[in-house]
Amino acid sequence: MSDPTIESILQEKRRFSPPQSFSDQAYIRSEREYEQLYSKAAANPERFWGELAEQELHWFKKWDKVLDWRPPFAQWFVGGQINIAYNCLDRHLTTWRRNKAAIIWEGEPGDSRVLTYGELHREVCLMANALKELGVKKGDRVAIYLPMIPEAAIAMLACARIGAPHSVVFGGFSAEALRDRLVDAQAKVVITADGGFRKDKTIALKAQVDLALEHGAPSVEKVLVVERTQEEMTLKPGRDVLWRELKTQVGADCPAEPMESEDLLFILYTSGSTGKPKGVVHTTGGYNLYTHITTKWIFDLKDTDVYWCTADVGWITGHSYIVYGPLSNGATAVMYEGVPRPSNPGCFWDVIEKYGVNIFYTAPTAIRAFMRQGEALPQSRDLSSLRLLGTVGEPINPEAWMWYHRVIGQEKCPIVDTWWQTETGGIMITPLPGALGTKPGSCCRPFPGIVPEVVDLDGAPVTDDQGGYLVIKKPWPSMIRNVYGDPERFRRTYWEQIPPQDDQYVYFAGDGARQDEEGYFWVMGRVDDVISVAGHRLGTMEIESALVSHPLVVEAAVVGRPDEITGEAIFAFVVLDGSQSPSAELAQTLKEHVVQEIGAIARPGEIRFTDALPKTRSGKIMRRLLRSLAAGQEVSGDTSTLEDRTVLDKLRGGA
Ligand code: WTA
Repeated sequence: MSDPTIESILQEKRRFSPPQSFSDQAYIRSEREYEQLYSKAAANPERFWGELAEQELHWFKKWDKVLDWRPPFAQWFVGGQINIAYNCLDRHLTTWRRNKAAIIWEGEPGDSRVLTYGELHREVCLMANALKELGVKKGDRVAIYLPMIPEAAIAMLACARIGAPHSVVFGGFSAEALRDRLVDAQAKVVITADGGFRKDKTIALKAQVDLALEHGAPSVEKVLVVERTQEEMTLKPGRDVLWRELKTQVGADCPAEPMESEDLLFILYTSGSTGKPKGVVHTTGGYNLYTHITTKWIFDLKDTDVYWCTADVGWITGHSYIVYGPLSNGATAVMYEGVPRPSNPGCFWDVIEKYGVNIFYTAPTAIRAFMRQGEALPQSRDLSSLRLLGTVGEPINPEAWMWYHRVIGQEKCPIVDTWWQTETGGIMITPLPGALGTKPGSCCRPFPGIVPEVVDLDGAPVTDDQGGYLVIKKPWPSMIRNVYGDPERFRRTYWEQIPPQDDQYVYFAGDGARQDEEGYFWVMGRVDDVISVAGHRLGTMEIESALVSHPLVVEAAVVGRPDEITGEAIFAFVVLDGSQSPSAELAQTLKEHVVQEIGAIARPGEIRFTDALPKTRSGKIMRRLLRSLAAGQEVSGDTSTLEDRTVLDKLRGGA
């Protein structure tokens, strides 16, 4: 996160109360109601979650025990049987919602589709039967590598319906990154498309799958291919099957499989501080409950609303707040294939106007890009349907918050700045929009049942307004259950960096934060070796290993550099093997190499060649120095541990 953001967040004093007209119609209407709920949850969390689970969801069989907590392993609603696809679809079919729009989809080229709950249910059943036809059984992992088309949601729900855990891989990842994820999850089937539309071009997805499988992902037996762009592709007989064809060969009757509450629902890979992405494990019952109730209360979601979250289904936000949370609530959700692009920078405003979107949830990086384009574009569209705005993914600087409030929300929409992570499954710290006042740059207060704290490295709470590490002190229903296949890494990463307090394990989020005297949280960004580019988490190690896998590179260090729009940009310091001299072309080659290894989201913004990296005497790269250099700042602070001081001078000059 950029330093200017930290500075402006530290000085922020403005406060906005929810408009009375909003509070009057909200689920949670006042600070008092919020506090009552919070206290109720704190007094008896198991009763609180148990009551909600009973009221809000359909269970095939009720649980015996709400929580079984054997730190750091939690089990929620033990003995209960449930199916999240049933809660998202079937239970709505016996009500008037059967003919309600579940998904309003807009394609990048301007085509569109609306799927009612009845239609979505049918498509999901067809795909579930298609998967069975391909040999998928309960427990088998299915990878989903699709663009933002309705089939992405259909595929996820189809997997959930038959109890096959899904692993969605973002369509922007390269064949190499896809292969790593297929191998780690031991996926049996991949669901993909010929291609997808992105920024007025098509990107080939099936071709990437072919490459990934060529390089070795032997667990994959079948590939189910959705046709989207009609680009050329080759189908491998016996392995590749067209969705269009298989769909006509299977029936539409597919009862939802009763799942144990703790059965694996999905794996989603996220970057960590080592080169290898972590497979974050989420299970069924607790995840269904938590995404359901947070969607309802935080977005104040009503049956009449048109709700739009601009994330991609490849990220956790797409899982929890495009697919599972909204559909479990019987909502109407917009799904948009496009992103703002030079040919159509105002496409988001067009979509809001066209469908009369009421609730709009996007990322600070998008807001900053819009700010730069100016007000004329959004002002030329009718945005009056909006009643609530949200942000997610990174800290929002107060200036961008104010712009969002004024230009998009027309000063009448509350803003929910929602803090959470792939690992938390759902939103943890957030305003409840009818109840709590907001402060630009603060993600406000914890959701009922969530107990965050800011602590020092020993786990002791810091005082008000002092910076520290953000931890969560009590288990919650949608918490990460494990790192797929690596319980040791799970323990080490999340539960042991901050030592247990009085024998109580606390979850360490990897973020720095402070809490002000009114209990509001201000998240300052990652404290580990993870950088956030346009809200996407990338491990510096991942990019470094991609760089050193190039034959000319002997060493690389990657840091984040503040960027006005994307929050951070990737800055790489590279040491060459000496056989070629540094050049602009070589920098370009290395950037492309990283794209090939990981995907376009990891493309370094800048590469600086150097003879050596600044290291401590014990050989640790001094990233703090590199971060200052990348930001164009003077290197300050202690440099006495530097092994070779001349390295710094050379780096300054940009060797
Ligand atoms: C950051 C995205 C400040 C944070 C849902 C976290 C935020 C990481 C916010 C998780 C916010 C997310 N304010 N920072 N409102 N929301 N973050 O796993 O650093 O892609 O640890 O999940 O994004 O990113 P992830």
